[in-house]
Amino acid sequence: MTGSLQRVLVVVPTYDEIDNLEPILARTRAANPTVDILVVDDTSPDGTGELADRLAAQDEQIQVLHRTVKDGLGRAYLAGFDWGLARGYDVLAEMDADGSHAPEQLPHLLSALANADLVIGSRYVPGGEVRGWAAWRLVLSRGGNRYTRTMLRLPVRDATGGFRAFRADVLRELHLDDISSAGYCFQVDLAWRTWRAGYNIVEVPIVFTERVRGRSKMSSSIVGEALVRVGWWGLHNRSRGARALAIALRKENS
Ligand code: GDD
Ligand code: MN
Repeated sequence: MTGSLQRVLVVVPTYDEIDNLEPILARTRAANPTVDILVVDDTSPDGTGELADRLAAQDEQIQVLHRTVKDGLGRAYLAGFDWGLARGYDVLAEMDADGSHAPEQLPHLLSALANADLVIGSRYVPGGEVRGWAAWRLVLSRGGNRYTRTMLRLPVRDATGGFRAFRADVLRELHLDDISSAGYCFQVDLAWRTWRAGYNIVEVPIVFTERVRGRSKMSSSIVGEALVRVGWWGLHNRSRGARALAIALRKENS
């Protein structure tokens, strides 16, 4: 855990977030004046991509990556990470565009990165909270996290959470090229890879507030993908051996 953490890029994926984009970018800039923002839009039919271009034209710390297909949150993040790694950012953060993640809490994540390789903004550690979710959604999310912890023996309370900060070096080492998780299980996939590669994950409490405008993109196929994949990974590799080996090798090389 060494190296500069100065240049921070927060990647914000968007699909039909026309009413949410401007306020979230304004809040992010106000609360984190030195952080750059990359909006990754998958040609939203509602014009979010064009709005992002207009906002980027007025602010050199806002950039936009347009993708031609909507093929899931995971792919959008991978494209954003590639963009940021190619431009030499030290830290790559993830944040939803719909206001569920408060940009005012991003500084907590970034400061915790001084003692971590990945920081996850967590709803399920003491001090963390979810506001505005129906009971079924909370059960699904908590159950999904319990399932993940059991299947993968991954010691993380909120492995599906999408408010995060990574050291760029970690992402460089994780073989992002062979990640095929498309939906929200991308979050589990990345956390698990990070853990197995021997890196240090720290969770800081966040308050997650359900969106007021627009619609969630969650679907039964996204849940299904996560169930099947996490189950598969769990059955085929439950051991802690991979992490221990990775840590030993890193010690030897340093
Ligand atoms: N570019 C792109 N492409 N963006 C997408 C796509 C996609 O295919 N799908 C979703 N997004 C964007 C949304 O526009 C939003 O900014 C963000 O990703 C999160 O999507 P939501 O649809 O609002 O997710 P959610 O509120 O249901 O889910 C939240 O909880 C999940 C489970 O804990 C998020 O925090 C997820 O990251 C998290 O995994
Ligand atoms: Mn949301």
